[in-house]
Amino acid sequence: MKRIATIAEMKAACRQVARTGKTLGFVATMGALHEGHLSLVRASESRCDVTAVSIFVNPLQFGPAEDLDKYPRTLERDAALLEQLGADFLFMPGVEEMYPQGAQTYVLVEDLSNRLDGASRPGHFRGVATVVTKLFEIVRPNFAFFGQKDAAQVAVLRKLVNDLDMDVEIVVCPIVREKDGLAMSSRNAYLTSEQRQQALVLHRSLLRVQTAVEQGEHDSAKLIEIGKQAITEEARARLDYFAIVDPDTLDSVADVSRGALVAVAAYVGATRLIDNILVTASPQ
Ligand code: PAF
Repeated sequence: MKRIATIAEMKAACRQVARTGKTLGFVATMGALHEGHLSLVRASESRCDVTAVSIFVNPLQFGPAEDLDKYPRTLERDAALLEQLGADFLFMPGVEEMYPQGAQTYVLVEDLSNRLDGASRPGHFRGVATVVTKLFEIVRPNFAFFGQKDAAQVAVLRKLVNDLDMDVEIVVCPIVREKDGLAMSSRNAYLTSEQRQQALVLHRSLLRVQTAVEQGEHDSAKLIEIGKQAITEEARARLDYFAIVDPDTLDSVADVSRGALVAVAAYVGATRLIDNILVTASPQ
């Protein structure tokens, strides 16, 4: 695996892949890699000739009171994992390389960026859209792999690619969970063992909703109540949002008969966690 820290070198390496007619898959990450990330790398490797991974903790997508400084940085461990998996390129630019002094261009997917996590984290999706646009221009991948766990991010990035006519196909891979159901996240590293147990309430709330849907409840307002109620049963968790929306537009849907994204965000201690499921109501 080749480690690359400059944009010029990464562009040259990726353009060389394109010249040889090989397909290039790309996995953008902020490091602190877990099985969720590794599943994206494996998906890329099984679909593409060459796989590039980036590790860049993007300051632009963190709010002033968020966890930029303490975000886990485990570069050597991450690089070893990627090497083992057989990734071809690891792009690991510094902040100055990506955002040199004087940079003043941002990418904003206007409406979608204010929904779900965007509503709670102003500026977050502007930061994500800007860095992903830059990374896509540097790598110019044929396929880019993202996790369903960040469902709102997926919606924003699909819209971005569509609106800007980018020649990249977004491939969304399923959420990877721990054995007890906790969705894998780099931020799980912040949790104490007690909080780790409390965090299971997110998945539990989604399962309650799924069961209710399977039992014939399709009314979103009622399903949201069921989900919120489940969260209140864990006194240490503080709900941010519980929403039932269209997975592409992130608009609320009144009932789930035609399928919907059920998404939850909650704080456990100071750690904000997210999770979601896609429900499809079986025909009555
Ligand atoms: O999902 C993430 O880890 C980040 O939002 C991404 C896509 C790497 C952009 O910084």
